[in-house]
Amino acid sequence: MANDLSTFSQRYLVQWDKRATVRTMPRYRLSESAASHDFFPAALQPLATHEAVIARGKDALHELLVRSAYGWQEAIATIEVDVVTDLCGKLANQGIGVPLPDAARQVALTIGTDEVYHAYAAREFIADVHRHTGIRPEEPGQSESPIQKALAYVQREAPPELRRQAETMVLCFAEHFVTEGLFGMSKDTTSDNPFHITIREHLIDEGRHQNFFQHLMRHMWAQIDEEARAALGRLMPGFLDIFLLNMDLYTDDQVRLLGFLGFGREDSRRIIAETFMIGNSEKPASKDKVLHAQHCLSLLRIAGVLDHHPTRDVMIESGWIKP
Ligand SMILES: [Fe+2]
Ligand SMILES: [Fe+2]
Repeated sequence: MANDLSTFSQRYLVQWDKRATVRTMPRYRLSESAASHDFFPAALQPLATHEAVIARGKDALHELLVRSAYGWQEAIATIEVDVVTDLCGKLANQGIGVPLPDAARQVALTIGTDEVYHAYAAREFIADVHRHTGIRPEEPGQSESPIQKALAYVQREAPPELRRQAETMVLCFAEHFVTEGLFGMSKDTTSDNPFHITIREHLIDEGRHQNFFQHLMRHMWAQIDEEARAALGRLMPGFLDIFLLNMDLYTDDQVRLLGFLGFGREDSRRIIAETFMIGNSEKPASKDKVLHAQHCLSLLRIAGVLDHHPTRDVMIESGWIKP
């Protein structure tokens, strides 16, 4: 098993040299003529369909979509640095509490390099859009993301001797989730849309990352002992609840967004409630039907985690998987 990860990581390092965007290609820069795009796919911003929002006119709608694109790019910039790069640095320097091949530690450093570069490109995109549209973005740090909250939960609740393993589990989830999220995003935009182009560029690296983290999760899960598996398994439902079911953070962001269009707090909350009630007429009947839950559950399947009976049991009890 350690050999598997070592061989995979050595191959990965060769590929990184040849393909990583930070090493091999000039990045896309937004031109003035491209700045009239809406950037963000209207299909992914349901507020754009609410009549009160539509009644504010074309410019307001444009601003809503531009600000939604800012929100996404800002979330990328924050999560890539504060969560992914930080945990990749720990992976390289502190390991994961079980033997980890040197090549895998080096891969962690390449991923940290990619991610800081992605954050750089995301902030540059925001600045370019601002320059060409005059729509001023918010200061960084206005919103907290569910993955940051979920990581804090795991760091608080994990037994101290398993902290590195627990953090690594979060890292594998985050990278699996981000990649699938970006894939979904690029599907819903046209290929000449500047937002689409930046997401495609980002994905060139993320497919490779995702593959590494699947190997890493499987490697770690196979190496840890029974007691550690049971302890990590017990953390999973709480982690997934905070990571995937946290609607409050999302609502706060949307309230701030509507504030820019001139809506007060109360009106904003009403618009959000009406929009998402309409959009969610088929409310998920169970947690495994929640948006993106399947991406996280597929990681657990691929890594062999759900073959562990006590973990499978807590996942069933908490409603994340069906018996
Ligand atoms: Fe990234
Ligand atoms: Fe990544």
